[in-house]
Amino acid sequence: MTQLPNDFTILALETSCDETAAAIVRGGREVVANIVASQMDMHRRYGGVVPEVASRQHIVSLAPVIEEALGALPNGWESLHAVAATYGPGLSGALLTGLNAAKAIAWQRGLPFVGVNHLEAHIYANWLGTGNEHASASGRPSPSRRPPDPPAPQFPLVALVVSGGHTLLALLRGHGAYELLGQTRDDAVGEAFDKVARILGLGYPGGPAIQRAAAGVTGAGMLPRAWLRDSYDFSFSGLKTAVLHKAQERQELAARLPKPQAPRRSARGGEHATPPATGTAPLDGQFVGQIAHAFQESVVDVLVTKAVDAAQRFGATEILLAGGVAANTRLREELTRRAPVPVRYPPLALCTDNAAMVAAAAFFRFEAGVQSGWDLDVVPGLRLGA
Ligand code: KG4
Ligand code: ZN
Repeated sequence: MTQLPNDFTILALETSCDETAAAIVRGGREVVANIVASQMDMHRRYGGVVPEVASRQHIVSLAPVIEEALGALPNGWESLHAVAATYGPGLSGALLTGLNAAKAIAWQRGLPFVGVNHLEAHIYANWLGTGNEHASASGRPSPSRRPPDPPAPQFPLVALVVSGGHTLLALLRGHGAYELLGQTRDDAVGEAFDKVARILGLGYPGGPAIQRAAAGVTGAGMLPRAWLRDSYDFSFSGLKTAVLHKAQERQELAARLPKPQAPRRSARGGEHATPPATGTAPLDGQFVGQIAHAFQESVVDVLVTKAVDAAQRFGATEILLAGGVAANTRLREELTRRAPVPVRYPPLALCTDNAAMVAAAAFFRFEAGVQSGWDLDVVPGLRLGA
């Protein structure tokens, strides 16, 4: 363990899925630049991420994204002390682009290099300062409006990682000392949001669309919760199937009713541009809002109950929320309300995939004396604690 200086500056790359990202982080916590080129519009038309398209687009976007990030350093390349990149889990072709670019940079500049676990990186977004909540359009923080950074989290911690590809609860006893308490047995929670949004005709990405559709809805019924008693594991596929059945019943009912004379716009009609995945007939806005609400409540209830239980059992000082679904306001609110300890979650821009979180995780790896060899390969199925 070597204490690194506060100005230790890391360039990190993240290309595990559909965001091409480069970031510069100083001292493990200060975000100097956080540049993300999203491919979301490209994948939207397919209703999900197409791996081959993602890899090709990373190759196109990487150089400009890195150059923009380096533009935030007065001495550019000369200011860097180390390089990092995500090496898993994720799409293998996509991971390869960022990992190889980072290795090439480190090799050429003679800098230390470390590969980072994407799940660990999501958790480390909670170590970053709030600087880039106030970022300009270019992704650079504006120092004048930057509040002081909160103190770093203290171990032991419970982390709830909820993203498009993963759902897990972990106990963190120290940097790099993780214990997986539980994980999903089927769909990841973000995946469930995306699939349910498709069923309801809400488009991609599903999380924000479901959150919008559920906002302000009252009188929605309940959907099932898979508790999997005495386990910190999760399951969301039964809930997704329950939504599918409700949508099918609703469409069958609508098909039996006489058609209205003129097309009627529902209160939320404008949002449902995509036909639902269950068939051709669009679902009415009121039904969609109620199901979105009930689905979100069911997911949030299970996630919060298990995270709170784990925090109590293991005497955590805080609960850290991480991953793309940590952007969900209902989840943040409910966890904060029910948790016996403070809940920390990253600013919105650091919840979804970005490279600043990769740099933060890398900083603590370097401090622990860890470096990766040039032979490090991508590990698409990498787990936490591996
Ligand atoms: O962490 P992330 O950017 O990518 C992965 O590593 O998977 O997470 C993306 C996921 C998507 O499934 C998206 O629908 C979900 O995060 N998401 C949300 C919200 N914003 C993004 N889910 C629920 N509520 C949100 N507000
Ligand atoms: Zn992610």
